[in-house]
Amino acid sequence: MCGIVGFTGRQQAAPILLDGLEKLEYRGYDSAGIAVAAAGGAGTQDKPSAQSGLHTEKGSSIEIVKAKGRLKVLREMTDDGRSVPGTCGIGHTRWATHGEPSVLNAHPHYAKDRRVAVVHNGIIENYQQIREKLTKEGFSFLTATDTEAAAHLLDKYYSGNPIEAISKLMFHVRGSYALGILFADRPGEIYAVRKDSPLIVGRSEQGNFIASDVPAILKYTRDVCFIPNLEIVKLTETEIHFYNVDQEEVEETFSQINWDTEAAEKGGFAHFMLKEIYEQPKAVRDTVSPRISEGHVNLDELGMSREELAKVSRIQMVACGSAYHVCMTAKYMIEQTARVPVDVDLASEFRYRNPVMEKDTLVIVVSQSGETADSLAALREAKKLGYHVLGIVNVVGSSIAREADSVFYTWAGPEISVATTKAYSTQLAAVYLLAIGLGRAKGVIDEIAETEMVEELSRLPEKIERILEEKERIQWFANKFSHSKDIFFIGRGLDYASSLEGSLKLKEISYIHSEAYAAGELKHGTISLIEDGILVVGVATQKSLFEKLISNMVEVKSRGAYVLGVTSYGNYSMEDVANYTIYVPKTMECFAASLVVVPLQLLAYYVALGKGLDVDKPRNLAKSVTVE
Ligand code: M6R
Repeated sequence: MCGIVGFTGRQQAAPILLDGLEKLEYRGYDSAGIAVAAAGGAGTQDKPSAQSGLHTEKGSSIEIVKAKGRLKVLREMTDDGRSVPGTCGIGHTRWATHGEPSVLNAHPHYAKDRRVAVVHNGIIENYQQIREKLTKEGFSFLTATDTEAAAHLLDKYYSGNPIEAISKLMFHVRGSYALGILFADRPGEIYAVRKDSPLIVGRSEQGNFIASDVPAILKYTRDVCFIPNLEIVKLTETEIHFYNVDQEEVEETFSQINWDTEAAEKGGFAHFMLKEIYEQPKAVRDTVSPRISEGHVNLDELGMSREELAKVSRIQMVACGSAYHVCMTAKYMIEQTARVPVDVDLASEFRYRNPVMEKDTLVIVVSQSGETADSLAALREAKKLGYHVLGIVNVVGSSIAREADSVFYTWAGPEISVATTKAYSTQLAAVYLLAIGLGRAKGVIDEIAETEMVEELSRLPEKIERILEEKERIQWFANKFSHSKDIFFIGRGLDYASSLEGSLKLKEISYIHSEAYAAGELKHGTISLIEDGILVVGVATQKSLFEKLISNMVEVKSRGAYVLGVTSYGNYSMEDVANYTIYVPKTMECFAASLVVVPLQLLAYYVALGKGLDVDKPRNLAKSVTVE
């Protein structure tokens, strides 16, 4: 979604804001803007000009500069920030929710005479009501955004005490928000507040920061605090104070970020996506190895005893997008390994479906960002119903990590590309570990089986490396199909879950229409779409289902499809049907999803590259979906 940065300190703010926004562009990128409390105070001329796509507004002690399009437009317009004086400011990169992408709708938004400037991430659900009420009171609205309602509300409630004005706003606003706020008569001060949208503060010798995410400020500090939900923060050059909604000051702890800026840079790769694909062996290793000792899985970090694990009678998994596909894979894996029934729901459905669940159900929420609005809402719904919630999360300190009863971190490191790859692979690794641990606790698998599985799990990183060594074969194939109109993926069982992921990866970055089907379903309608030359990718790693899938591939081929087979070494009969075959190393069938997904990721990447698309920032998408 949108990205927020703020800085108050000894250096010029605008270049720091632009620098931080660049690191957040993955969150949204249709327009951007900054507001800086200008050192010289009020008095310059108004220059509103929305025509050119660029916009500068002066006239109060807050200077606002906005531009439509990518951040580079704003950079050019402000000479990389150098032309905007002042050492205290806030910035925003937008992913439109309310109101089209335009200069006018870009943030920061402000109240009349710019007494207050606001940047916002989230959705204010009752903004229409607020708008109507304030309009009657004489406030005039210039934009189509929900954020402007927050700016006017703050203006209305502000009478010299920012914390009071913000806490009043919190009582009137419904929905989710992370707000960065400047008050024109409080030079050098930034205020921030959050509810259900992520926001952090960072502190350094040079000054203090707010940001939606760590990479935005990592160049300047590692000393950060994940602002707790419903708290207000006041930052000056040298101080940071936290307040609860009752305006009482509260203490918060800071933690040190232990990963490097380099982890959030491209490091010589053309795109973050490719870099992150290549980081998968390490990410999987980092996720698996700390949880293994002497051939056993150690799940102590869950804070659940073996008895408690053994008591779990059912598992309810919820997630969105690729994380949902991980849950689909987990269903097969956990049911086979631990014989515990697993239900899988899209978080956006679960949160509203008033689920019927057994008493000893363990709810597992899977999320890379830990901030996905629907997943967070599903977690809260499950907790409200009294269930133990386990979060499988990548971002340390994120909302899901903090609110879940138990957390199992995936150690993928920062993932920047909108299309998830390494986080997906680590989520798979995490569910394997849970399945094995649960299987042992329930006595479904014995020590020998556990050790065998653990040993094979530890070999997955090197097998992923072997697939990456053969990437040219996939690249060559992808180039042939980069102008396809439709691409289908088929699979059965675990391979169906991998097909769903392959299809999503392809469509989100290449804009090629794609569907994934459980291969047995083809005959029930979809096969009518198959025509000459259409690419069908058949994924087949499960021995007992191999022949069935081959039959489905024959069916589509005989109707004109061009068939790509993805299978394990040894399954050479695939070549009798497939026009082209990609092999992955052999592994235990239950882990095959971790290997077949790699060529599917590379296929998506090279198809999108062949079309000349912006792989890391696909249109209409944002890395973390913090609004409903
Ligand atoms: O941060 P999360 O794992 O909760 O995000 C869930 C989905 O939005 C995410 O997996 C999305 O589908 C990816 N862009 C897919 O590549």
